[in-house]
Amino acid sequence: MDQLDQLVTTSARLGILGGGQLGKMLVLAASHWHVRCHALDPDPACPAAHLVERFVVGNYGATDDVIAFGEGLELLTIEIEQVSCDALEALERRGVRVCPQPSVLRLIQDKGRQKEFYSHHGFPTASFSLFPSAQALRAAVASGEVLLPFVQKVRSGGYDGRGVQVVKQAEDLGDLLEGPCLSETFVDVAAELAVLVARSGRGEVVSYPPVEMAFDPKANLVEWLACPARIEPQIAERAREIALDLAAALQIEGLLAVELLLSTSGELLINEVSPRPHNSGHHTIESCFTSQYEQHLRAIYGLPLGSADLKLPAVMVNILGADGYEGHPQYQGLTECMALPGVKIHLYGKSRMRPGRKMGHATVLAHELDDAIATARRVRETIKVIARPEDGSES
Ligand SMILES: Nc1ncnc2c1ncn2[C@@H]1O[C@H](COP(=O)(O)OP(=O)(O)O)[C@@H](O)[C@H]1O
Ligand SMILES: [Mg+2]
Repeated sequence: MDQLDQLVTTSARLGILGGGQLGKMLVLAASHWHVRCHALDPDPACPAAHLVERFVVGNYGATDDVIAFGEGLELLTIEIEQVSCDALEALERRGVRVCPQPSVLRLIQDKGRQKEFYSHHGFPTASFSLFPSAQALRAAVASGEVLLPFVQKVRSGGYDGRGVQVVKQAEDLGDLLEGPCLSETFVDVAAELAVLVARSGRGEVVSYPPVEMAFDPKANLVEWLACPARIEPQIAERAREIALDLAAALQIEGLLAVELLLSTSGELLINEVSPRPHNSGHHTIESCFTSQYEQHLRAIYGLPLGSADLKLPAVMVNILGADGYEGHPQYQGLTECMALPGVKIHLYGKSRMRPGRKMGHATVLAHELDDAIATARRVRETIKVIARPEDGSES
């Protein structure tokens, strides 16, 4: 029987842990093939909730909730990493397929083990040391084992810059993050890159053109993302090679987003990975032959992978909640930006905004990357998400 035909006619059901914007866009891609999606998320008003055949309110980090959700489904995937691996392993024993594999998720949930994997397998990454506590790291600095400046990262639970800090001077040592952590050599970063790759169970692999991430230093959040990254072709090629090798070493089934640091001395270092659709791949919906979401589905269903070639240069900007507001979102400037050439607005439909929360994104397409960057800057200056006055609060 034709594989894709079988997917539709057997009424395949895909379970997704997490119902955020990545889950929503995955559901939209699945609907192209009429794959019916189920989602688990603690927030009944999450972006994917109203799009799925079955939505379950529950905690994807709680073993019982995940087992109850996943039982009876054929295939489970994720849109967030902080999920119960105990539950996923139990479900696998009961015959549910899980992509990515729980063993990979366990590795990635712990930045310490993740770094050890890179060094054991000969992948380039900033040198590091592991510590059971902030106190132990302080002692290592005192004894000269760890040199300033360095980057401290908590081993688990951090995201979007929370759980990571640069420690520049001795005075900062009082503010170390508590708990098991690692110290990493501070890299003089010339560019931050992300390379998306996909690998299917049949071992077929494909890589997307590298994306360049520009960071907002204050919020430590991505300011905009450009594809293709403005780097030498041989660096782009090397970055794609590293990402493909890593997907093979991890035996990933599905997408793997690989974040890399390009140092001012020209070294490419793996920063961290996510085995799922990724913020750095939003642009692929409009700019690539195959979106990251469709590619993830192709990979986890063992279908042929699609071309990851770029149709047009693209820049993506996140639409974030503005500082000083919290409550029901009110959007400004969307329509004005829509009128600009090549601007595509995506709103996630989150019912509450708060400072820095990802409420949507805009992808800007142009024939020349510089034009897309210029328009993206305008979009960023024009769109604002505040709270509606009746419940807006100054903070
Ligand atoms: N070794 C390093 N040297 C310099 N900057 C770093 C280093 N490691 C991380 N960073 C910066 O901190 C950011 C967040 O770190 P990351 O490990 O990716 O955490 P998160 O899980 O929050 O994304 C990176 O995007 C990069 O800007
Ligand atoms: Mg990161």
